[in-house]
Amino acid sequence: MSRIYLSPPEVGPEERRMLLAAFDSNWIAPLGPDVDAFEAEIADRVGIGHAVALSSGTAALHLALLMLGVGPGDEVLVPSFTFVATANAVRYLGAEPVFVDCSPTTWNIDPDLVAEELSDRARDGRLLPRAMVTVDLYGQAADYDRLLPLADSYGVPLVEDAAEALGATYRSRAAGSFGASGVFSFNGNKIITTSGGGMLVTESAHVADRARYLATQARDPSPHYEHSVVGYNYRLSNLLAALGRAQLRGLDSRIERRRRINEYYRTALAELPGIGFMPIAAYGEPNYWLTCITIDPEQFGVDREAVRLALESVDIEARPTWKPLHLQPVFAASPVVGGSVAAHIFDQGLCLPTGSGLSNEDLERVAGVIGALAR
Ligand SMILES: Cc1ncc(COP(=O)(O)O)c(C=O)c1O
Repeated sequence: MSRIYLSPPEVGPEERRMLLAAFDSNWIAPLGPDVDAFEAEIADRVGIGHAVALSSGTAALHLALLMLGVGPGDEVLVPSFTFVATANAVRYLGAEPVFVDCSPTTWNIDPDLVAEELSDRARDGRLLPRAMVTVDLYGQAADYDRLLPLADSYGVPLVEDAAEALGATYRSRAAGSFGASGVFSFNGNKIITTSGGGMLVTESAHVADRARYLATQARDPSPHYEHSVVGYNYRLSNLLAALGRAQLRGLDSRIERRRRINEYYRTALAELPGIGFMPIAAYGEPNYWLTCITIDPEQFGVDREAVRLALESVDIEARPTWKPLHLQPVFAASPVVGGSVAAHIFDQGLCLPTGSGLSNEDLERVAGVIGALAR
């Protein structure tokens, strides 16, 4: 039996064809017709004015915050329950993340805590955060009807880290479209991949132009190489954009497959004691990037780590949910608002194999191992 991975890439003849067509066209560069087309197609899919193809989601986060003027001495609200890249981008700019706990009902940044933190700061005459980053965790949008009015009323611009959420919606509007900029990742384990890559999306032509400028070493218009600010080498290769275009064509079928995988696990594990699932909020439709469960060791009989190791022993990859960033050594000195909800989910949380290429037999293998461990 072959190894079952958490969320491996799924590529086929269309990816191969488009990649080779780009190769044969000799556009082996971080610009070219596939970059332009990939940008247009993502913008169209998200229903937003502009998209800028970049080398990673992290690069997109870095530029999004840079363009909001985040810099040394600033603080930025960031959910604690996320991948480290969200907060690393804040640190790249010499600013400090202020971690905010997640809501138990969505696993996303808790709007009540954001409201409390902003109103406390305003009341005490303390510095307001320079920006806030929301994350659409595991493919489910944060609660924007609550978050956007807070961002507006306190004048704290919002960056939407939708790295995991391409194709998800919030009240029928696409994830990625809610902030001053939105960010997607096409890393190898994401719902569509370019092996490595990212996209910044925005309604503002000025922001998109500025992002393209900063991502190409901030080269000023001139026949020679002229530079007036520090830039970055952050553009996406045309070859990888071709791969991304082929992947994007299959996005809806990938979401549908992952939705069914989620449904399968919910049914197959329903009777087991002490198993919970990441809640799906009524306000939107996730892309079901990863299916994550919680395991209460008192009820289930063994803990999350025992389940993970049992799966690993039969060559099945599962991963603990994100370790909250306020518990990471690198951010030990950063402020945190709450934190116990994310810590509790981390103690009990496990992401199950969710790749769109998994067969029904693969899923049965995973559920069988978990079921055999239950009390
Ligand atoms: C929530 C989140 N933010 C940011 C990133 C960074 O994206 P990338 O790996 O493309 O830099 C990822 C994934 O890797 C992510 O899951």
